[in-house]
Amino acid sequence: MSKNIDVELKNIQKKFGSNVVVDHFNLQIEQGECVSFLGPSGCGKTTTLNMIAGFLDPDEGELIIKGKRMNGVPSNKRDLGMVFQTYSLFPHMTIFENVAYGLKLRKVPKAETAARVNKVLELVKLPHISDRYPRQLSGGQRQRIAIARALVTEPTLLLLDEPLSNLDAKLREELRDEMKRLQQEIGVTTIFVTHDQEEALYLSNRIVVLDHGKVEQIGTPWDIYNRPASEFVHTFIGKSNRMTGVVEQLYDGRMLLRTDAGFNLFGDIRDKQIAPRTNVSVYVRPEKITLHTEDRGTQDVNRAKGTVKLTSFLGAHTECEVEVGRYTVTVRIQSAAQLEPLQAGQTVYLEWKAEDVFVFPREGQDE
Ligand SMILES: Nc1ncnc2c1ncn2[C@@H]1O[C@H](COP(=O)(O)OP(=O)(O)O)[C@@H](O)[C@H]1O
Ligand SMILES: [Mg+2]
Repeated sequence: MSKNIDVELKNIQKKFGSNVVVDHFNLQIEQGECVSFLGPSGCGKTTTLNMIAGFLDPDEGELIIKGKRMNGVPSNKRDLGMVFQTYSLFPHMTIFENVAYGLKLRKVPKAETAARVNKVLELVKLPHISDRYPRQLSGGQRQRIAIARALVTEPTLLLLDEPLSNLDAKLREELRDEMKRLQQEIGVTTIFVTHDQEEALYLSNRIVVLDHGKVEQIGTPWDIYNRPASEFVHTFIGKSNRMTGVVEQLYDGRMLLRTDAGFNLFGDIRDKQIAPRTNVSVYVRPEKITLHTEDRGTQDVNRAKGTVKLTSFLGAHTECEVEVGRYTVTVRIQSAAQLEPLQAGQTVYLEWKAEDVFVFPREGQDE
């Protein structure tokens, strides 16, 4: 079944001076999708969003919204709703006037304006504050109003640039839940810019991972987490234990790796071909390792003996640092596993599956 494409970026490039900030960005966004741009500060997220918003023009490439070429079309002709990191409400206007602003510009009649403003204020769960001024609201409330203001015109596309970054942790989580609910309820096509991987995983249908202006991967949260296209993607999303080593042998869909700590590991050979003798980085995530106080002698898994260095109880899980040769390996133990509390200095046995090992070729001999 073919879906409607709302937004299309075709080979979009942007330079500032000789600095390539967005490098041949290609993307199609379906109607109703929520797509995140995720990457470290300075990777080109805001610049890309600004080109979609019409604040910047691409040097190369085409931007298409609802089937129409948008290069050179002014921002106010693009039918967008926007929310930024800093509260961009007009301080001298009431909440009602702030939210109604876009409708006023479009010369929507008064009665209809009032109805639509009240409806979006209810959507963001702030129906009773339309007479107040922005300074009388908390940070979280102000961002809700900013979202209401962006939605009131029923835009084709909602653009959000780090809208939660200025809020404290608890509020950020609350508003994140709220945004997910809203996005699903209204079904507005959304682009969400963030440097926070958890936010991106939580909110998006698909994530675009960016590094230095280049698209590293486009995929569902599951794909990005479980099938990372590069070492950068793997390490940017979630925690992972890194070791270095060399590929010894390939056989039966498995690779045998010799780590620099002296012990061997098995990894699955995925789609990429890595030749024997290749220097590699080897990763395993903390939640993929099981910890045992006795050597179970399990066959066909990776095993390592280690010493507990540090444990941190975090409620739902415990994080345990285990010294294995020259490596400190972090293991995440779910509280439901109900292990006896571990003691520093205790000997433990770690196990993890070959399929949970990520292997990336490593250039040079830097460590
Ligand atoms: N107006 C500008 N002039 C020159 N360089 C800029 C300008 N805006 C952004 N940059 C540079 O472009 C890169 C990407 O910036 P930006 O898109 O804001 O990154 P992000 O939003 O991912 O943090 C950065 O190196 C930044 O310094
Ligand atoms: Mg930015």
